[in-house]
Amino acid sequence: MHDTRPDHAAPAMPQGSIDALYDVVGARRDVRREFLPDALPRALLTRILNAAHMGPSVGLMQPWRFIMISDEGTRAKLAASFEAANAAAMGTYSGERAATYASLKLSALQDAPTLIAVTTEVDAKRGHGLGRASWPEMAQFSTVAAIQNLWLAARVEGVGVGWVSILDKDDVRDALGLPDGVAPTAILCVGYVKRFEPRPDLEAAGWEERLSLADVVVAETYDGPSYVDE
Ligand SMILES: Cc1cc2nc3c(=O)[nH]c(=O)nc-3n(C[C@H](O)[C@H](O)[C@H](O)COP(=O)(O)O)c2cc1C
Repeated sequence: MHDTRPDHAAPAMPQGSIDALYDVVGARRDVRREFLPDALPRALLTRILNAAHMGPSVGLMQPWRFIMISDEGTRAKLAASFEAANAAAMGTYSGERAATYASLKLSALQDAPTLIAVTTEVDAKRGHGLGRASWPEMAQFSTVAAIQNLWLAARVEGVGVGWVSILDKDDVRDALGLPDGVAPTAILCVGYVKRFEPRPDLEAAGWEERLSLADVVVAETYDGPSYVDE
């Protein structure tokens, strides 16, 4: 599709890049099943991590750190934390919703060959506080933006990523030796997978539906009319 552009506007990237970007965004998936045990080459992991490190950050603070976990003891601690948190979460549902919850596979901590913990140094001096004096959560938001880069880079490399958040944060802190001032932001299960599904697992399982774009883009105020024609 060609839009009309002002004469002096910076050019769009070549059409192949445009198509590729939208393809990758559409094909990205959270993957939790059918990981292959094969180790990922370090060069491939480095490319994916470099994509993450190219992410935006408030004040250029780059608050992230990626902890590459190969120790089986650490994996076992995280898996045990998941089991406890998942059992507690399951107890909050009843009836059909509880049965559906119980059928979901919500972690690949014991299957994926690589686990990456991503942390945020929430009060880092780097960035000199720019952009977070009145809004400190911006540090963690920056790390999440980096993770999205990682997720997309992994997809284009044919590598699955599953984000596990059903964990006790203190267990994660203990397992990883996080000092004060460093927050755990994500635990990612990473590896080659047998397939990437065309739609989210939670949608396929009937847990939740994807909203339409018109539901989430509005004009002027939170309750404003939809901005998108469908
Ligand atoms: C912050 C965050 C935390 C998530 N935590 C979990 C999790 O603990 N377990 C899980 O199965 N999926 C988790 N997911 C994956 C979501 O369920 C998934 O992104 C969503 O269902 C949409 O599917 P898709 O990513 O394949 O498009 C998480 C995703 C995000 C962004």
